[in-house]
This record gives sequence, structure tokens and C-alpha cells, in this order.
Amino acid sequence: MTRLQPLKEFPLEPQHNPPPPGARSARPPLRLGILLSGRGSNFLAIAKNIRSGALPNAEIAIVLSNIADAPGILAAQQLNLPTKIHVSKGRPRADHDRDMLATLREHKVDYVILAGYMRLLSPEFIHAFPNRILNIHPSLLPAFPGLDAQTQAFEYGVKVAGCTVHFVDEHLDHGVIILQRVIPVLETDDAHSLALRILAEEHQAYSEAIGRVASGQYEIQGRRYVRTS
Ligand code: GAR
Repeated sequence: MTRLQPLKEFPLEPQHNPPPPGARSARPPLRLGILLSGRGSNFLAIAKNIRSGALPNAEIAIVLSNIADAPGILAAQQLNLPTKIHVSKGRPRADHDRDMLATLREHKVDYVILAGYMRLLSPEFIHAFPNRILNIHPSLLPAFPGLDAQTQAFEYGVKVAGCTVHFVDEHLDHGVIILQRVIPVLETDDAHSLALRILAEEHQAYSEAIGRVASGQYEIQGRRYVRTS
């Protein structure tokens, strides 16, 4: 199993003041509900991009975790973002997801962003946000769904790897693909170095995908995500 160390490249200061009204665009910002279970580097990349303006027209409404001491939730607390923990261990999925849904609704979330949320969602949850739940997966789907995708890909001997941002449906790592990023597998790679290079792509890809969705300029045609401008 590939073990990744916490990353230190997102030195965000806590935000005390919202951006001035003039800085906002005419469309109300998309309210994101971030769900995470672990390190939270994808969440931090999204937060950084929102803060810098690289991801406009979006704001983080709530950061939710199913793990009480997930480093990502601690990072969100340090950034003064709204956070909530609903511990999932030992609870039926449907009950836990009902609590998660209630919190997302309470915070008027438009889109749910799975950022290393390592728990399957119940059908009730998925149907509550049809085509409004995004996930990032560290492989070029449909190859290597499930856990430890980077190690699966490395051990399979692929020559290119990457990440996928997709809408979430009832099946694991399966919904409509919004975008993918591809990198070569180097002769010098091991599973760990490959995972780190994929992660660097993830940090860009997720914000890009959220930006595309926030623009509203897309259609879903069958399994195809199609940009309309
Ligand atoms: C990321 O690599 C993400 O793609 C993966 O978990 C990691 C979370 O890292 N997600 C999955 O494998 C989902 N199937 P992070 O907590 O540092 O964002």
C-alpha cells in the first residue's frame, strides 16, 4: 500500500474576512460541501485556488469528515472554515449519510466535492444530489477503480497514468467523466513517486473541473460530459 506523507505546500493563513462585494461576480458563488477522510491535500488545493481567484465563483460552505481526527478537517478548522464531523465507524451507512445530508442542506450546499472521502455513498445520498457530486480518483478511469489505484497502475506496468474527475453515480468510480490528466510513468518511478506526481496533477485538475461545472456551460449526453462554450 502506498503511504503518502502530509504535504506542506499549502501555507494558507486563516481567512477572517470575506472578499469585498465588488470582487464577486454577478452569479452567486457555487456553494461547495467538501467531504474528506484523510490528509486533505485536494481540499487545501481547492481552498487555495478559491482564495487566489484561480477558482472563481465558488466558495466552501462546509468541510465534513467521517473521521474525527482527519488531518484535513483539522486544517479546515485552522482556516476558520465551517466544519462538521459525523463519525461513520460502527454506524449503518444509511443513518450516517442521513446526518451528512442534513448538514449539507443546513449549509445550503450546491455541489458535493469528494476529496479523499473513503466511504461509499448510499443511494439516498446520491439521489439527493443528482450529477452534483464530484469525485477525484488517482487513475485514468475506467482503469484501476477502488483502493490504491496508483499502486495498481504501477504494478500493472502501464506507461501512462493520471487522474480523473467525475460525477458520482451508484457505482464505484464510475460516473460521467468531467476531465482527465495524463502523465508518463518514468523508468525511474516507483509506486510512491508515481503517486506523488499524480497528486500534483490532482491538485490542478480538481479546481479546473469545479470551475467548469461552476460555469454551468456543459451538458451531459449519455455518459459524455460536453462543454457548451
Ligand atoms: C487522492 O489521491 C484521491 O485521488 C484519492 O485519495 C487521495 C486523497 O488525498 N481518492 C480516491 O482514491 C477515491 N477513490 P488527499 O486527502 O490528500 O486529498
